[in-house]
Amino acid sequence: MSAKIISGTQIAEQIRNEIKAEVSVMKERHGVVPGLVTILVGENPASVSYVKAKQAVAHKLGFNSIQDSQPEDISEDQLLALIEKYNQDPLVHGILVQLPLPRHIDEGKVLYAINPGKDVDGFHPVNVGKMVIGEPCFLPCTPYGILEMLIRSGVETSGAEVVVVGRSNIVGKPIANLLFQKREGGNATVTICHTRTRDMASHTLKADILIVAAGHPRVITADMVKEGAVVIDVGINRIGKTPEGKAILCGDVDFDGVKEKASAITPVPGGVGPMTITMLMKNTVQAAKQALSL
Ligand SMILES: NC(=O)c1ccc[n+]([C@@H]2O[C@H](COP(=O)([O-])OP(=O)(O)OC[C@H]3O[C@@H](n4cnc5c(N)ncnc54)[C@H](OP(=O)(O)O)[C@@H]3O)[C@@H](O)[C@H]2O)c1
Repeated sequence: MSAKIISGTQIAEQIRNEIKAEVSVMKERHGVVPGLVTILVGENPASVSYVKAKQAVAHKLGFNSIQDSQPEDISEDQLLALIEKYNQDPLVHGILVQLPLPRHIDEGKVLYAINPGKDVDGFHPVNVGKMVIGEPCFLPCTPYGILEMLIRSGVETSGAEVVVVGRSNIVGKPIANLLFQKREGGNATVTICHTRTRDMASHTLKADILIVAAGHPRVITADMVKEGAVVIDVGINRIGKTPEGKAILCGDVDFDGVKEKASAITPVPGGVGPMTITMLMKNTVQAAKQALSL
């Protein structure tokens, strides 16, 4: 039987409607709307399109959305000074610096420079540390989105065997961490696989929930998935272009084969992607509320 499709587009729409309602209350009662600045350095086409998408959603939700584009050759000191300017700006509640940055800029220094209270991407080590010990903080947007998808789709994580493929700082490590915590959408038993894992299928075949963030097209095939598993495909791979020049995308999971074995699966596009942007907006609303002491 074909798997149920977990639509990130639909769940994201639900959350965006909730955010819209919160923004209008905030505006009415406090005369404030959430402010989000996205800083883009250079013109990497993927980064340009990500930043555009984030700004478009922020604008739609009624945020004060500022797009700050800087030239490729901006110095590290100039970028740090720009971040400090936004750290001090009371109308800006969230600061996002689009990664990757040009090689002459130290990404670590830039992430440390953002005020943790405005770090709506959840990458500042203060937020990462708070996440690990289970304190309130800004969760990184992709793992936060995966968590919301699981919760809102009624997937039981408590006691489940979860396998995460990938151990990056932005997806693999944080989602693994969140899933084993004592919290809603947590309490799972988690295994993490990476390129040094021996016999990956022996792990993935045990997964009740399989989360794949490897960054390679269709590395997970049907023979690696347990019958009835829930499969979350984080991968976004550009595998070609349509005659109109639009990118053709696929995930890290062989969707057509795996959907015949899984009980539920996320598509690419329309799965984790829309959730990531939405959770950035949720974090920005949270930052604005904190600034207003709400
Ligand atoms: N939907 C979204 O919103 C969203 C957000 C972020 C990322 N993504 C996508 O998710 C994917 C992963 O992103 P990322 O930033 O986490 O990537 P990354 O930094 O390249 O990390 C990939 C991880 O996967 C592991 N890996 C790669 N190939 C593997 C294989 N064949 N078997 C087992 N492990 C393997 C790597 O292991 P090692 O550590 O051993 O190298 C690494 O830990 C990408 O396609 C990216 O575009 C999507």
